[in-house]
Amino acid sequence: MSASGDNRPIGVFDSGVGGLTVVRALMERLPLEGIVYFGDTARVPYGVKSVATIEHFTGQIVDFLLRQEVKMLIVACNTMAAVALKIVAARAGDIPVLDVIEAGARAAVAVPGSGCIGVIGTPITINSNAYARRIHALDPGARVCSQACPLFVPLVEEGWLDHPVTRLTAQEYLRPVLAENIGSLVLGCTHYPLLKPLLRDVAGEKVKLIDSAETAAELAAAWLREAGLAAGGQEPAAYRYFVTDVPLRFQTIGERFLGRSLGGVERVDW
Ligand code: DGL
Repeated sequence: MSASGDNRPIGVFDSGVGGLTVVRALMERLPLEGIVYFGDTARVPYGVKSVATIEHFTGQIVDFLLRQEVKMLIVACNTMAAVALKIVAARAGDIPVLDVIEAGARAAVAVPGSGCIGVIGTPITINSNAYARRIHALDPGARVCSQACPLFVPLVEEGWLDHPVTRLTAQEYLRPVLAENIGSLVLGCTHYPLLKPLLRDVAGEKVKLIDSAETAAELAAAWLREAGLAAGGQEPAAYRYFVTDVPLRFQTIGERFLGRSLGGVERVDW
């Protein structure tokens, strides 16, 4: 580390393009930090795969990012955070590992008098019960009601962010959790922050939407500061993106997720 700070990049990874919601939040919250992003676009989606497969893929990605000499790892994919966090931690050694489920759970329990906490995510994330376990570790008395929303990922990738089909799907998925009088709703999947306006409509103004991308960026800022790992800001922050499929689709859809143009996408040939 130089006297001007630690200018090694942060490694952020996801099953595909969705983790760019976390990158976007990091760029806004920590504009001086460089980022190396990995999206496994050739093998997405993970949310419907077996735990053994997700663990295997996760290990490969982490090894790749560690070779890029990152100073922190952020598991942007809720599905990987739900079932493969131990693999990440075991390989990371001294490198701090932050994940979206930890960030989302912390934000959920911080909502005052929220009543029941609603959680939505991919089938793997919801079936793993990872959010409920983390929320209960922080607040044993919390009530959690969860709902898998498998159709949201393809709808978001299609760009149907405010389409009648998406609205109807959301009404159907949210009906059981809304019946529990939830006070907050954790958007437990990388893609769901793009549906915020629609979900706010469907869930109603009284339900606080918890965006795990934003809360992960907040937590990253605090951890970097506390560990003395924050960048010094002498150089403009550099961003690199690695994907496993041809970059074109990632680039096109990614700009919607990132809210800005996306340069420097490289294809990884394992
Ligand atoms: N990135 C995944 C998540 O956050 C969604 C896409 C997938 O199923 O791979 O759970």
